[in-house]
Amino acid sequence: MRWVNTKIGKKNILLLLYFMLLNFCIFAQDAGQELFMENLCHTCHGVQGKTIYPNYPNLAGHDAMYIRNQFLDIQSKNRKNGLTILMNTFPTISKIKPQEIHNIAAHLSKLP
Ligand code: HEC
Repeated sequence: MRWVNTKIGKKNILLLLYFMLLNFCIFAQDAGQELFMENLCHTCHGVQGKTIYPNYPNLAGHDAMYIRNQFLDIQSKNRKNGLTILMNTFPTISKIKPQEIHNIAAHLSKLP
């Protein structure tokens, strides 16, 4: 039963926690990319978050919190300006859950 006595050490535990957190962040990003495509966000905002329509906004590289908040405001119709009606009447928008927009925003914020 030698393995029971193995000293793990504070540094290794911190390292382990760091990698667990990193994995979680990478997972959130990948899940976000899938959700972005599955929910057809890319048809208006571009596959890389850079739109091809001059009056639709780019989403790539914005702060994740900003993307999340703007999305939730448009989804809940607290934000009703410009062309938001085009987005919030699109069938996939009302189905997005808070955890999903969290993942989508994490993905978009990492794009150049
Ligand atoms: C039918 C087209 C369309 C689809 C599909 C669409 N959007 Fe949009 N989105 C828009 C338009 C147009 C605006 C700009 C509204 C305005 O004029 O203020 C916008 C605005 C936004 C904004 C605010 C950007 C800013 O800088 O203020 C976010 C965030 C956003 N969309 C995220 C998403 C996400 C995430 C999805 C997929 C779940 C999605 N959109 C799907 C058309 C769309």
